[in-house]
Amino acid sequence: QNIPIITIDGPVASGKGSVSAGVAKVLGFNVLDSGSLYRLTAYAALQQQKPLEDEEQIKQTAVNLKAVFKGGKILLEGEDVTDAIRQEEVGLAASKVAVHPKVRKALFKLQREYAQAPGLVADGRDMGSVVFPEATLKIFLTASAEARAKRRYNQLKEKGIHSNIADLVKDLKERDERDLKRSVAPLVPAPGAKILDSSDLTLEETINQVLEWYRGTE
Ligand code: C5P
Repeated sequence: QNIPIITIDGPVASGKGSVSAGVAKVLGFNVLDSGSLYRLTAYAALQQQKPLEDEEQIKQTAVNLKAVFKGGKILLEGEDVTDAIRQEEVGLAASKVAVHPKVRKALFKLQREYAQAPGLVADGRDMGSVVFPEATLKIFLTASAEARAKRRYNQLKEKGIHSNIADLVKDLKERDERDLKRSVAPLVPAPGAKILDSSDLTLEETINQVLEWYRGTE
């Protein structure tokens, strides 16, 4: 069973989601947006009013996560949370639950199940380093903080969520720092990962670069 896997890891709003979706579309591969699992765990924990720093309790939330991905929508216990989990507040909470090794372990198995034929594009922070170390191609996608804040601003605006750039820069720096400094699965390029700086690239150019590298592996 040799399923081609492309991992795309990188900091907040580096364009991982859009690039993964674009690459997966061209190749006809499945997609894993691993951040959504941490967001769902955080969202559920907030709803259950669990303290985010309580590893045991949050682990239980992760283990019992009842999420359904259907036609671009995400349902949590039947509730459509597609937009709700994209809020910055949930992103920040996600980075808090993501520091717990037991939470990461609970989500590990779930993530591995996405490796299905004909192939997978997985995006997150530790896809190439921890979850899919056997990946065919590993990308570490970066962009300047300003470029990322601007992208996140536009993404939120499209969803009708109001924000401001200064707050977004602050949030993404706080989140990057927590992701970089945690002791388990910190955000670092996986061994052998190709570094792709998308600050001055369009989405299409970024997708094409990934595809070119992927074709080089075939
Ligand atoms: O990618 P996204 O911004 O949706 O992820 C939300 C948070 O979930 C990240 O800031 C990070 O703390 C956590 N995360 C993680 N490992 C992943 C994906 C996301 O720790 N593979």
